[in-house]
Amino acid sequence: MLVPEECLIRSPLAICIFIGMLLLHSVFAAEIPLGSKLSVVDNDCWVSSNGDFALGFFNISDQPNQYSIGIRFDSKSIPFSQQTVVWVAGAHVTVGRMSYFQLTNDGQLVLFDSSQGIPVWTSETANRSVVSAAFRDDGNLVLIDREKHVIWQSFDTPSDTLLPGQNLSVYQTLRAASKNTMSSYYSLYVNASGRLQLRWESNIVYWTSAGPSVANLSVFLTNSGALQLRDHSSKPVWSVFGEDHNDDSVNYRFLRLDLDGNLRLYSWVEPLQSWRSAWQAVENQCKVYATCGERGICVLSASGSADCRCPFEVSETNRCLVPYEKECESGTNMLTYESTFLYGIYPPEDSVTISSLHQCEQLCLNDSQCTAATFSNNGSAQCSIKKTQYVTGYADPSITSISFVKRCSGPLAVNPRLTNSPRPKQPPKLCVPCLIGAACGTFFFVAILQLGIGFCICRRRNSTRKEVALAFTCPNSKGLTKLSFSEIKSLTGDFKNQIGPNMFKGAIQNNHLVAVKNLNASIEERKFRGAVLKIGSIHHKNLVKLEGYCCEFNHRFLVYEYVKNESLDKHMDDSTLCRRLTWGKRMEICSSVAKAICYLHTKCREFVSHGNLKCSNVILDENLEAKVTEFGFARVNGEASYCGFSAEKDVEDFGKLVLTLLTGCQHTDQELCEWAYREWVESRSVNVVDKRIEGGIDPEELERALRIAFWCIQMDEHRRPSMGEVARVVEGTLNVDPPPPPFTVQRPLLEEDEDDDTQKYSSESPV
Ligand SMILES: *[C@@H]1O[C@H](CO)[C@@H](O)[C@H](O)[C@H]1NC(C)=O
Ligand SMILES: *[C@@H]1O[C@H](CO)[C@@H](O)[C@H](O)[C@H]1NC(C)=O
Ligand SMILES: *[C@@H]1O[C@H](CO)[C@@H](O)[C@H](O)[C@H]1NC(C)=O
Ligand SMILES: *[C@@H]1O[C@H](CO)[C@@H](O)[C@H](O)[C@H]1NC(C)=O
Ligand SMILES: *[C@@H]1O[C@H](CO)[C@@H](O)[C@H](O)[C@H]1NC(C)=O
Ligand SMILES: *[C@@H]1O[C@H](CO)[C@@H](O)[C@H](O)[C@H]1NC(C)=O
Ligand SMILES: *[C@@H]1O[C@H](CO)[C@@H](O)[C@H](O)[C@H]1NC(C)=O
Repeated sequence: MLVPEECLIRSPLAICIFIGMLLLHSVFAAEIPLGSKLSVVDNDCWVSSNGDFALGFFNISDQPNQYSIGIRFDSKSIPFSQQTVVWVAGAHVTVGRMSYFQLTNDGQLVLFDSSQGIPVWTSETANRSVVSAAFRDDGNLVLIDREKHVIWQSFDTPSDTLLPGQNLSVYQTLRAASKNTMSSYYSLYVNASGRLQLRWESNIVYWTSAGPSVANLSVFLTNSGALQLRDHSSKPVWSVFGEDHNDDSVNYRFLRLDLDGNLRLYSWVEPLQSWRSAWQAVENQCKVYATCGERGICVLSASGSADCRCPFEVSETNRCLVPYEKECESGTNMLTYESTFLYGIYPPEDSVTISSLHQCEQLCLNDSQCTAATFSNNGSAQCSIKKTQYVTGYADPSITSISFVKRCSGPLAVNPRLTNSPRPKQPPKLCVPCLIGAACGTFFFVAILQLGIGFCICRRRNSTRKEVALAFTCPNSKGLTKLSFSEIKSLTGDFKNQIGPNMFKGAIQNNHLVAVKNLNASIEERKFRGAVLKIGSIHHKNLVKLEGYCCEFNHRFLVYEYVKNESLDKHMDDSTLCRRLTWGKRMEICSSVAKAICYLHTKCREFVSHGNLKCSNVILDENLEAKVTEFGFARVNGEASYCGFSAEKDVEDFGKLVLTLLTGCQHTDQELCEWAYREWVESRSVNVVDKRIEGGIDPEELERALRIAFWCIQMDEHRRPSMGEVARVVEGTLNVDPPPPPFTVQRPLLEEDEDDDTQKYSSESPV
């Protein structure tokens, strides 16, 4: 099927990248000696000797001053705006403005992030006798030893693109870029029986190639524009051809798993000066799983793109199809959509019964859990009942299915979960096929409200009086107050009331209590202020609010809202306090912490990681509601550092925190994790549960919590889920596959094993 050439431009990320490229000074570098370096500020790059590809930094325009390093087309015949990025080091790793990329003298590629002061990505080839790097004409960056053996190559760590000559083996995946970590992801891989498959999240396969059933196949794109599955002797066992296959006028091709979840083969059309899709895996874009997310019904436009339509005006929620929330005051009615197929996303399974069209509608109407239903009749009349708020679908005149969506007849009842927050009016206009981010939405609104309250409308303080009371009545525009060291001393009563490590209780005007943290570290003033301003603008009900700071000489203090009650580790240690931590409470704490970290990762203007998530940094208020503190500042080697760090580290820390809550053991070392995993694998999950928990546990929640914890602590960072996914699993709106053993790293993303695991454990485990 032909997709018009604007196709590429339609992808928002692609536009960002094209606009954002800032490569200028080129160095032709067929051979790159040890010690060679590229930096953001120098704008330099390495270019393959035929001039077709360049490796250098680029910026992504929706994240100011965040850069990635990658390989893009650099040919003179391709205009700058069309110089697509084909490989990115570390996939989604971004770095600050003073960062550099170096082939170090010990033979490894290192991406050094200036904002964190640490390497954030390496090729992990130190001590492997690398003597130089070469940038080959096919776009492959390779590290070679004295005998010219390839020790490492960029072709082995693909991001979303496959170039001609590159293999995608059975253990590798292409992953669609996503605009943020909240997004669900689409991936491409070869399954263990040799089928090429497109998958959504970890469980839904929405496209499978034909072909024979042969193990250990790899995907290969030929120079002439054929996509093949090859066996170990490089013999093709299955092929598809782009429509310009064998067209000699095409000089450049690539295969990409696009942001919209479709796999496309692109060719450079010289006369048109643009990329054209010569083949796409899912012909009808509306058949890509969850293409419209919760934003309506997918209708294929004349140009072949997916058009997400909302059949009625959405006034109360940002979901299109099911504003019905089980609380209708004046009854419900059903709206009918002809030629429309609907399916639930969380969970994806519908319950199916044999019924007539009329019965189908009645079944849903009579069932208070039912939100929508689809009646299909191909052979036998079937009614599939959806009991979830997350419904999506597609419409086409050729489809015989008829769908029903439940609506409140009268005014919408108030959703209790949202009463504390203003509901934004969503225009009925629908966005590009973006993906779903349900879990954090609510909290975003809550946060907006808090932000509104937090803003104090007052003039900038121009007096230099050092009165604590005055200081707190008039915070700066961020809601943050700058305090002098003497103010800190006076409000803490000369640090007499210590409430934690380097943490002191203090009071300001009207006995407003605060907790003052002494960072005890010499962070550069400019960096410290930058970090404080960033953190000060973060407001979430499960994050302890930063109210002020002190940055004077070498003093660095943070002033937080004071949360009555103790930290989680105190609760776990103390036998009386611990009794309050029932199973339900522990699950609530997991959920609150997950939402808070998810919020940090995805809802702030810049990415913020916690960096030091552990029980002592989770405080429980009077109602045992969890509030996470000390985010954005973390200790590395005893030195406080600021912001940065990786999302993956937080995810791992969260996994350990969950295990701590479940087991009651404060030291979640590898041994404990391995033991817990073994117990789980052998269906003895209850053995790991803290014996002090009173009032019983919920086995289903336990299974879910253990699974997600084991995913989080995967030693291979790429296997760890995003915090958004974690939050959804914890609150039960997303299913999770059985996790592989956390401490094996030899074969990243080993699809074969994962599939085996699924079969092995699904019968034993209830979720
Ligand atoms: C990205 O780089 C381009 C080219 O140098 C520049 O015009 C643009 O402002 C940059 N964007 C950001 C967000 O830094
Ligand atoms: C590399 O070798 C040096 C000296 O033999 C050793 O100190 C260092 O730990 C090694 N590094 C790695 C990553 O193996
Ligand atoms: C791709 O795989 C084939 C055989 O499976 C091998 O001969 C070739 O070297 C591989 N290419 C790369 C770039 O790894
Ligand atoms: C690979 O996919 C095919 C088609 O969906 C399926 O029949 C087969 O069972 C899968 N193989 C494995 C090992 O999962
Ligand atoms: C597939 O590859 C693995 C690892 O290289 C090997 O152990 C296995 O025997 C291969 N299977 C087949 C059917 O060739
Ligand atoms: C739905 O409820 C009505 C009234 O309670 C009943 O008459 C009807 O048979 C029910 N329909 C189905 C399909 O259960
Ligand atoms: C009926 O056919 C449609 C497509 O024609 C298909 O998507 C759907 O799954 C089928 N339904 C059943 C119940 O087989």
